[in-house]
Amino acid sequence: MVRKVALGLAVLVLAGAGDLPARAEPGRPPALEVVGGKIAGSGRFPWVVRLSMGCGGTLVAPRVVLTAGHCVGPTGPNDRITVTAGDPDLDSRTAIAVASVEVHRSPDFVTETEGDDWAVVRLERELSLPTLPLTPDDVDEGTFTVMGWGQTREAAPQQERRLHYAAVPTIPDEECAAAYRAAGVELVRDESICAGRHGVDTCQGDSGGPMVRRDRAGRWVQVGIVSWGLGCARDGYFGVYTQISKFRTDIQDAVRRLS
Ligand code: ARG
Repeated sequence: MVRKVALGLAVLVLAGAGDLPARAEPGRPPALEVVGGKIAGSGRFPWVVRLSMGCGGTLVAPRVVLTAGHCVGPTGPNDRITVTAGDPDLDSRTAIAVASVEVHRSPDFVTETEGDDWAVVRLERELSLPTLPLTPDDVDEGTFTVMGWGQTREAAPQQERRLHYAAVPTIPDEECAAAYRAAGVELVRDESICAGRHGVDTCQGDSGGPMVRRDRAGRWVQVGIVSWGLGCARDGYFGVYTQISKFRTDIQDAVRRLS
């Protein structure tokens, strides 16, 4: 969520006390295209959706969207979210808008940096679009695809009309935790996947959107949910994603209840 994240970001930057460069060092390329600069064509990721508060999400059942816990309010009736689906271009005439009716947020969610950052949203009606399965296994390392309509630069608070996507390598928990510890944040390791490299990352407005990989049969499965990061695409810091394998059963139960 854009507003909330700006706040979280300010807190993190303060916690980092000055040793966090806002720009790339001299001689290194600046972190420009955060989501890697590629625009997704129609039909490539048919299950990704945009949420009106400025987040991403995925259609995981015909009537249920999976997103980040910090994107939504508490569990209960909720008709305030509009979900845009069916087209990577949000202004396209073929994009579908549908309202939410109910939210179920992880009962353990407090803030994004404390883990449990997932929620499901029930829509007012079913959508006839492909759904994205949750990863059936615990493969949490590799190079994964991330996407969203969020900022393409840390310093430019502007959302995109077109879906952007990028491939990001995962980073060992120890390395990611060490970087964030130095910035004053304790990574919840067993609930997080860190990924990204200098110049390639998700950013503000991508939260709730998916991290995906292809399974052996070539089908996309969701392994993560965009959660948080210190700035975007900075050298030495990484995007943090909710680790779906850790919450698979809880999410599946919630999806079943809201279907
Ligand atoms: N929390 C952000 C949002 O609400 C996503 C931040 C992701 N940041 C990153 N460096 N990967 O949109």
